[in-house]
Amino acid sequence: MATLPVCNVQPPARLLFGPGPSPVHPRVYAAMAQSIVGHLDPYFFEVNEQIRRALQRCWGTGNELTLVLSGTGSAGMEAAVANFVEPGAKFAVFVNGYFGERLSEMGRRHGAKLVRFEKPWGEVFSDQEVMESIHRERPDVVAFVNAETSTGAYQDGAAIASAAREVGALSIADCVTSLGGMPIGLDAMGVDVAYSGTQKALGCPPGLAPITCSPRAVEWLRARKSTPVTWYLDLKLLLDYYEKAHRYHHTAPISMFYALRESLAIIEEEGLENRFERHRVNHEAFAAGVEKLGMPLLVAPGIRLWTLNTPQVPAGVDELKVRQSLMRNHGIEIAGGLGPLAGKVFRIGTMGYGSTAENVKLLLGALEEALKEKGLAG
Ligand SMILES: Cc1ncc(COP(=O)(O)O)c(C=O)c1O
Repeated sequence: MATLPVCNVQPPARLLFGPGPSPVHPRVYAAMAQSIVGHLDPYFFEVNEQIRRALQRCWGTGNELTLVLSGTGSAGMEAAVANFVEPGAKFAVFVNGYFGERLSEMGRRHGAKLVRFEKPWGEVFSDQEVMESIHRERPDVVAFVNAETSTGAYQDGAAIASAAREVGALSIADCVTSLGGMPIGLDAMGVDVAYSGTQKALGCPPGLAPITCSPRAVEWLRARKSTPVTWYLDLKLLLDYYEKAHRYHHTAPISMFYALRESLAIIEEEGLENRFERHRVNHEAFAAGVEKLGMPLLVAPGIRLWTLNTPQVPAGVDELKVRQSLMRNHGIEIAGGLGPLAGKVFRIGTMGYGSTAENVKLLLGALEEALKEKGLAG
């Protein structure tokens, strides 16, 4: 029987400019290579505590219940739904892209009475639409995607959160592609539950899902009578492990905690405001550049993400061939559109460690070259 060769993990060089994972800082890789301690070691809880505090600052929240789940962004989504949407509860989801769809699918699987508010992909909901929809349906829980990675659109959550409170509902925000790259101001927004992933603007490999819950959400959780169907993502059990008794729940992926700890240190060294500004400036330079190449962004100015851009594929161009050309000639990874946007847009990340003026130049040059290549017609 053939055996695996020793030390043969030699991944090809890639420039990760898709919707995530994003490029990882060498310091983060170095942190991951440190020796692990046990998942009940005081050092692990020290690292966890530092992570929690830094995440609060990234999110702009004082929420005590701020922790990281072992799992990717979808684990954050599932935890939010499983803990706060009881079977039979009326769950309203604002759907304007792929991840809004995923949220509603999770709600359906958890036995919610689902209500969907829909908009074409690439658009966002106005304050008036939000208010009217929530007051009309009076749901128990409302969810929306703050940074819709399938479209590049930014949905502000202030009106959603405030309308939710008015009808006594909890609000959930998906911040997977905004945390660490754009100001969120969660407490000012008034959102009750938010989750994210490590592999986007936080500049870390995939593997952890930060989640934060307002005091109001915690109160709701304490009063919840039914047991969530999920054991692994049950926040009450997780609190016992991470914050209270330090009782064993699962074996946390220690190296990922080191990685996140280091990426948050890098964020704090740069300063949050500087980091957000860097993302804004590089996104705008990229947007102006693709516009010049005849590929204007799908999303209207003012509601564009600074982390993820969706230039429209020019007529007559096969987007898959462009992506293959970028990979073949430069090792650059970008992504294509999903669902109704398949074949119509590229999804190009300018986030985390990858959001630099040099990378914007590199990307624009590579795109220009690819578009001039023969045989890219669709
Ligand atoms: C907005 C949004 N929500 C949720 C997810 C799911 O995260 P993951 O793929 O890390 O499970 C993603 C991933 O791209 C995302 O962009």
